[in-house]
Amino acid sequence: MTLDISFLKAPLKNTDAAVICFYKDKEPSPPVASLNYEVKGYIDHVLSKSKSFTGGFGQVEVLMLPEDAPYSYGILLGCGDKDEMDHVKAEKLGGKLVAALDGKNIESFEFFVDNDLRNVAEMAVHTAAGVALRLYKFEQYKSKNEKKDEDEPEKKDLASAQFVLFDSTVAEELFADKACVIEGVFLARDLVNEPPNALYPDAYAKRIKDQLKPLGVEVDILDEKKMGKLGMGALLAVGQGSDNPPRMVVMHWRGDKSSNDAPLAFVGKGVTFDTGGISLKPGAGMEEMKMDMGGSAAVVGLIKALAGRKAKVNVVGVVGLVENMPSARAYRPADIITAYNGKTIEVLNTDAEGRLVLADALSYVQDVHKPNLVIDLATLTGAMIVALGHQYCGTFANDDALWGQMENAGKDAEEPLWRMPLDKVWKEEVEGTITDVQNMGKSGRDAGSCTAAGFLSHFIEEGTVWAHMDIAGTAWIKKDKDVVPKYGTGFGVRVLERFVARNYERS
Ligand code: BES
Ligand code: MN
Ligand code: ZN
Repeated sequence: MTLDISFLKAPLKNTDAAVICFYKDKEPSPPVASLNYEVKGYIDHVLSKSKSFTGGFGQVEVLMLPEDAPYSYGILLGCGDKDEMDHVKAEKLGGKLVAALDGKNIESFEFFVDNDLRNVAEMAVHTAAGVALRLYKFEQYKSKNEKKDEDEPEKKDLASAQFVLFDSTVAEELFADKACVIEGVFLARDLVNEPPNALYPDAYAKRIKDQLKPLGVEVDILDEKKMGKLGMGALLAVGQGSDNPPRMVVMHWRGDKSSNDAPLAFVGKGVTFDTGGISLKPGAGMEEMKMDMGGSAAVVGLIKALAGRKAKVNVVGVVGLVENMPSARAYRPADIITAYNGKTIEVLNTDAEGRLVLADALSYVQDVHKPNLVIDLATLTGAMIVALGHQYCGTFANDDALWGQMENAGKDAEEPLWRMPLDKVWKEEVEGTITDVQNMGKSGRDAGSCTAAGFLSHFIEEGTVWAHMDIAGTAWIKKDKDVVPKYGTGFGVRVLERFVARNYERS
């Protein structure tokens, strides 16, 4: 995080701006009074004249303050109905504030938190998180010495945010954990935003090791030889058309060494670029298929978050990293391949590659780690975007209790999930004619997300508690959201971090 966030009991008055909060109908939060006094009633004056600022949720008004004021700018932040304030709204406010300050060249602010709020420290932490999450930028491919327009000032980003509240010590402690989650989200976003010529399977595997080993995560990289010996014919078939050989990365976080419980397993699709292979995708928009490793990025980000805050829980992450390319060596429609669990698969469409990668990763993690439960994340089907767009993540679960935990975590983290049906009709739909299974439904694209989940269920052993999150619509967005700037979202890190924290971590 390049942004410096701190929590203080009293203002230092060393920042460009002061942020003060109002509720609906211009009701000032208590800290407004003292700033208003220092500027000789100027805030009151503006408020009485303003025709746009009412204190409604998310409104932002940036004022230049008079010469003898302790800050150059006063930022009025509308918080809406005080009784409706909760952690999700507090976080969104942070995001809306950052969005409104874009291009204003305000490099630092002091945010006056309303000490009368319920759970005030928690609210301050969520607002700070919203600020950080929205401020994320992916800029390493921009030349620094880019020629600037002479009339425009040099662009400056927010670099420091100070939150002022009595409970600042509690907030600071809470934020330390939150910062680890934010780092996990940022890593996932970075990975998704990286171009496919930089983030091919081997480079990706090394990057995972570099990121996670220092935190105490065991990282094993399986290369194509090793995977060949293990019989991962499905994943290897997808990767065989590329000059960039595939990798599987197994990450093990043992945060609760005293426990003999089976670990939680998270599995991610990591197709670093999906051309469709021989069943080539159309050219328009193909560049977006660099995000086809979003599921794996979420797993890596999640483990970074958990290890970062030394979560007392045992977790295994497995990601299958491959590039799906057309070439003389590429796998073809009609090929018959054999997966790690011994099932034969007829390839009907080389663009339905994600399920093949997951098939081997899922069987492997169940076989080797005997996990307590398995959750996979994958940008698996375009049909998921048709069904739910970019707001909800379609989630298939074979266990009601697991689904309940996930749904609640999704609401808590503002990464909402929507349950999709796992029905045996779709499991049967992908049974093969000359093989055990085939990688596409018999009735073509109908219920495409459901047949994909049905396919995966052939690789889930009897008794394994399992959920599949199809993040095709949520891993990548083209319009900013309150706390998620456009492009790689890091979706999955926050919901699963909450899922683990709320249900499986020892305190
Ligand atoms: N990676 C795609 C799914 C996807 C599409 C993700 C758009 C994000 C945005 C996946 O590998 C794919 O190509 N799926 C096919 C499956 C079909 C051939 C059965 C699809 O959805 O069209
Ligand atoms: Mn595909
Ligand atoms: Zn794909």
